[in-house]
Amino acid sequence: MIIATTIEEVRAATVKARASGRTIGFIPTMGFLHEGHLSLIDVARENGADFIVVSIFVNPTQFGPNEDFARYPRNEARDMALLEGKLVDLLFLPPVEVMYPPGSQTTVSVGNVATPLEGERRPGHFDGVATVVLKLFNIVQPDLAVFGRKDAQQCAVIERMVRDLDVPVRLLFGDTAREHDGLALSSRNAYLSAEERRIAAPVLQRALRTGEEAIRNGARNVDEIESLMRKVAEETPGVEIDYLTVVDPETFLPPEDFRRDVLLAGAVRVGKTRLIDNVRVTPS
Ligand code: PAJ
Repeated sequence: MIIATTIEEVRAATVKARASGRTIGFIPTMGFLHEGHLSLIDVARENGADFIVVSIFVNPTQFGPNEDFARYPRNEARDMALLEGKLVDLLFLPPVEVMYPPGSQTTVSVGNVATPLEGERRPGHFDGVATVVLKLFNIVQPDLAVFGRKDAQQCAVIERMVRDLDVPVRLLFGDTAREHDGLALSSRNAYLSAEERRIAAPVLQRALRTGEEAIRNGARNVDEIESLMRKVAEETPGVEIDYLTVVDPETFLPPEDFRRDVLLAGAVRVGKTRLIDNVRVTPS
């Protein structure tokens, strides 16, 4: 595995890969890797990528001033071993100054889809995500790039950006990898105490599944579905609901009807940890 810390090193490796006819698949991450991240590498390969690039960069511009940038979990040695095990070709590990040299000031702001839910709770977050992802796309110039559906709104924001700015990349989305009790894998799960992990964390998945079941049983009233989901989360002490909602998976606004897919999306706080998850419901 080539380990690059500069843009020049990435370009040297990708120019060579492209010249030898390889298809470049790219998976951007913030590290502290888990099976969810690794499953995206499989998605890239299944879709024809034969030169796999992974980036690990804890992007400061997507964290709010009171968020967890400083304590975001890191373990480069372990991440490198996992990526070696997945036969990744190139790991890009840029220092902050490489991504944001002094004087850089251009940002990407994606419109309406970045406004509700996470956009509302985390002002500036999606600008930071869109900006760093476009920069990474320009550095790596991948044929295809893979993102996880766990961050459903992030997927929609990037899809919008790629369309609006004519970015020449094929986007693919991977399913959410979960623990046995339904908890979505996340680097931030490392913040949970044993007690929080056992009792409180799976509640988000339980609440979303309750909403799904209600829709399958014919519920069509958004308020009613949302209050059913809230009830599940409220029953568990130590869980603070940020939002538990039904939205249109493209706009992230309330759905017009239930004849098309809807997304049940949630964010809760368990102690100091903020967890997000979602379930997509397709009409049967
Ligand atoms: P990070 O949280 O490290 O996630 C990297 C990629 O892994 C994202 O596409 C995310 O949706 C996906 N992912 C996370 N947990 C997953 C799970 N349980 N199952 C499947 N995929 C999962 O998301 C980011 O980093 C950053 O915002 C980034 C896109 C790298 C920009 O900085």
